[in-house]
Amino acid sequence: MHRAPWPYPRVLAHRGGGAFAPENTVAAIRVGSERGFRAVEFDAMLSADGEAVLIHDVTLERTTNGTGPVAASSWAQLSRLDAGSWFSKEFAGEPIPRLLDALGFCRSHAVWSNVEIKPSPGDERRTGAVVADVVTRAFADLLKDGARPGELPDPSVPLLSSFSVDALEAAREQAPALAYGLLVERIPRDWRTRLERLGCVALHCDHRHLDAKSALSVREAGYWLFVYTVNDRPRALELVKWGVDAFCTDRLDRIEPSLLDARGP
Ligand code: G3P
Ligand code: MG
Repeated sequence: MHRAPWPYPRVLAHRGGGAFAPENTVAAIRVGSERGFRAVEFDAMLSADGEAVLIHDVTLERTTNGTGPVAASSWAQLSRLDAGSWFSKEFAGEPIPRLLDALGFCRSHAVWSNVEIKPSPGDERRTGAVVADVVTRAFADLLKDGARPGELPDPSVPLLSSFSVDALEAAREQAPALAYGLLVERIPRDWRTRLERLGCVALHCDHRHLDAKSALSVREAGYWLFVYTVNDRPRALELVKWGVDAFCTDRLDRIEPSLLDARGP
């Protein structure tokens, strides 16, 4: 539990560039960055041989020219796929990035990230551990040895989140110094016990199921509250009035990255 203000940018581009570029690619992060977004959310999953890559679905069809489960392809196979043509000709040939490369791009462009650990079914613990290890390697210079329990890392270091409890447990065992958020659709009754047990500093929920009273409970308990995916400007402002710390959006055209900068918690 903590009571510090949210130390990260408050508006994140969902899956990279939102509606303007193929999701979960470096091109998407670049587009978001060019539009002034200083933070992104993206999804990380493992290839058959354990490389962490950016992709949302457990199968390749929707966002690449490949077929079958992501977990059935090696990194060498995934690296040859086109993850841009499905979106538009302009992005033809855009590859699936490795998590390590996406984090390198983010660092070099001063873009903060929320890495969603998105395991293929049955691969939860391995995915959590590998993603945490990759983030640790990418930010090794900012992670102190011997950080005290509960001490948060430098705010440039990504926040890791997941719907998978197993993935979060394995990630935290691998990298206890990182900051973690539990993703849920609806806030469960026992949310506080779950956050405590998992050592999470934030609860991430679907804003469509949030109400002002629940938002207040989370904030009063000293946890950060992140919501996904807010594409409507008045709704974003309402959520912030309820105490929501940050959110991700697809609509980089409707919601400006600085929307919440001048507003208090
Ligand atoms: O991390 C929030 C959000 O990305 C969760 O939903 O399906 O877009 O990964 P999804
Ligand atoms: Mg996601």
